[in-house]
Amino acid sequence: MSNSVILSCTGLSKTFGEKGLLVPVLQGVDLELKQGERLAIMGTSGSGKSTLLQLLGGLDKPSAGSVVMDGYELSELKEAKLSALRNKCLGFVYQFHHLLAEFSALENVAMPLLIAGESVASAKQQAFEMLDAVGLKHRIEHRFSELSGGERQRVAIARALVTKPKCVLADEPTGNLDKKTAEQIYELMLSLNQRFNISLLLVTHDAQLAAKMDSVRMLDDGCLQA
Ligand SMILES: Nc1ncnc2c1ncn2[C@@H]1O[C@H](COP(=O)(O)OP(=O)(O)OP(=O)(O)O)[C@@H](O)[C@H]1O
Ligand SMILES: [Mg+2]
Repeated sequence: MSNSVILSCTGLSKTFGEKGLLVPVLQGVDLELKQGERLAIMGTSGSGKSTLLQLLGGLDKPSAGSVVMDGYELSELKEAKLSALRNKCLGFVYQFHHLLAEFSALENVAMPLLIAGESVASAKQQAFEMLDAVGLKHRIEHRFSELSGGERQRVAIARALVTKPKCVLADEPTGNLDKKTAEQIYELMLSLNQRFNISLLLVTHDAQLAAKMDSVRMLDDGCLQA
């Protein structure tokens, strides 16, 4: 682990709703993730874990506070620059993964590489290797819509990891997988963390997975506890 901070937030707050019906979800969250660091966030359902990951990934805007990714304060970036930064730095595995139903597993995983400007041949080769690593070599030509829930989840993981991002944000990455597959996925994420010094920020209800991280923090009452 090096000392450079890849992702941080200060005083991060989020309130949903309009006047009369305000739902304060996050209230002044401070967090720092260094290159290569592994952090798990736990908390009860509705405590704001997914909301926090959305804000950290620049997919939603905070009500107050700031997020700094690879040295850039997100609120100061225009949409195009923000997208480019996300593509370069982040891999996302979110609860409601945004994958393309009509595209094959291989095409979905190759997509971020193509967006980053790699050749089709090289993107497909790397996508194939990553799908093999998550145990889906036999499903590469299947359309996303033809895959099972756990297979879709693994495609989402392969896509998040294929660019070897500086940081992976994962929301319940193994939530709908059986124990054996979930363990293979943890091992894959941990080996990439070590080989490529990728930072991991995981939201999980799984205490066993959380225990494999460098630290675990609880989100409670809108605040992140030590
Ligand atoms: N777009 C929204 N508009 C209004 N309220 C929202 C919105 N998104 C989330 N919330 C509320 O914010 C709270 C936190 O939601 P969030 O999805 O972050 O919880 P979570 O900790 O990820 O829960 P789970 O473990 O069930 O996934 C919930 O009470 C939810 O109803
Ligand atoms: Mg959630």
